Amino acid sequence: MKLLVVGSGGREHALVWALDRSPQETELFVAPGNGGTAALATNVPIKAEDVDGIVTFARKEGIDMVVVGPEAPLAAGLVDELNAVGVPAFGPTAMASRIESSKSFSKRFMREHGIPTGDFASFTDYASARSYLEAHPAPIVVKADGLAAGKGVLVCETDEEAQDALRAIMVEHRFGAAGDRVIIEEFLTGQEVSVLAFVDGKRVQPMILSQDHKAAYDGDRGPNTGGMGCYAPAKVLSQPMLQRVVDQVLQPVVDGLREMGAPYVGVLYAGLMVENDHFSVLEFNCRFGDPEAQVILPLLETDLLAVLGACVNGELGQIALRWIDQTAVCVVMASGDYPGDYEIGFEIEGLNRLANMEDVYAFHAGTLLDQGRVITDGGRVLGVTAWADDLAQAMDRAYEAVDQIHWPGAFYRQDIGAKGLVKEA
Ligand code: AMP
Ligand code: GLY
Repeated sequence: MKLLVVGSGGREHALVWALDRSPQETELFVAPGNGGTAALATNVPIKAEDVDGIVTFARKEGIDMVVVGPEAPLAAGLVDELNAVGVPAFGPTAMASRIESSKSFSKRFMREHGIPTGDFASFTDYASARSYLEAHPAPIVVKADGLAAGKGVLVCETDEEAQDALRAIMVEHRFGAAGDRVIIEEFLTGQEVSVLAFVDGKRVQPMILSQDHKAAYDGDRGPNTGGMGCYAPAKVLSQPMLQRVVDQVLQPVVDGLREMGAPYVGVLYAGLMVENDHFSVLEFNCRFGDPEAQVILPLLETDLLAVLGACVNGELGQIALRWIDQTAVCVVMASGDYPGDYEIGFEIEGLNRLANMEDVYAFHAGTLLDQGRVITDGGRVLGVTAWADDLAQAMDRAYEAVDQIHWPGAFYRQDIGAKGLVKEA
């Protein structure tokens, strides 16, 4: 099987790593990949957003299946274009991926289908949005409608912060065209959990639950990021509650999109806020989470390639997912000042010391290879991941590994997994 993974982050490195372990014979390509994927696959210098370039490469190379990592090429119609020329692809079409790429579409869809979510209003006009904020005091959440790499969500504790957030999105265009429309949303409290599921157009099979840490600093403080670390499985939902999430959230999305003529194939990711026995959807993503993929995939015992193939062929009913009975923790090491302006181009030192550590792996996110040296090349640089018999051991191992790795300005949260320890106690 010739496989092409699209993307260049930690999620894509984890996908390549898991596909490389498949018992099936595979030849792996990544477009464009990073300094870590180069060790397991052939990096092809085509950007993830270059739909034409990827389609041309896939046809020329005779790729048997394309696995799309990030949301941008999905929203741009990469899967539609691949389907049109007969190349099988794992991921939703542009229409179906609107469940992530337009927050207003997603919120309206939830309202129409009775999917539990916070109250909201959506605006394209700055003056109306301002008056709405005046009538709805903080705490409140202001979100850019379009794709903004996880950073377009501003949780505001004061009225002043809320007005500043609105101005940043609608007047200063901090998130570009993603902010032409804003969503203003009720502030929800509780525990967050990521529920990812494989979908084959009709059926839904949830994966183990995971918990991301989206805020930049310890104790969930500071600006939102793409995700600073993660652990799985997260014990935030009981089995009966997870079944309710499948019945009341995931299956209605898949059924509703199919009825709209936009059948959903790929990973459907629901970000939930959970309080006692109540849950509410914060957002949907149309793909694996990043860093969620880095803790979920190492624990997947079933052959990932078989699962992805079953989704693409509408045969998920024939797959029984099996999971390794361990806990995984991923600590994201980021460039200094991420998610603000940061410097890249530093050599990463110490990665080779991880080779001697069992059940530890550094997934590369923003790196490149330069004459054998690994150089920082993005905001999130590495997802240092460890898996062990319980959460506490996995945390110890992951931080032991992080301690081995250095570059100027590197920063990471010290408390990834701590929320899970509190829950266990
Ligand atoms: P989103 O990308 O919409 O999931 O938002 C990013 C993060 O912002 C979430 O993971 C939450 O931590 C926070 N957030 C988003 N919406 C809300 C909300 N309505 N209430 C409280 N926190 C929120
Ligand atoms: N970790 C959150 C996301 O992938 O959107």
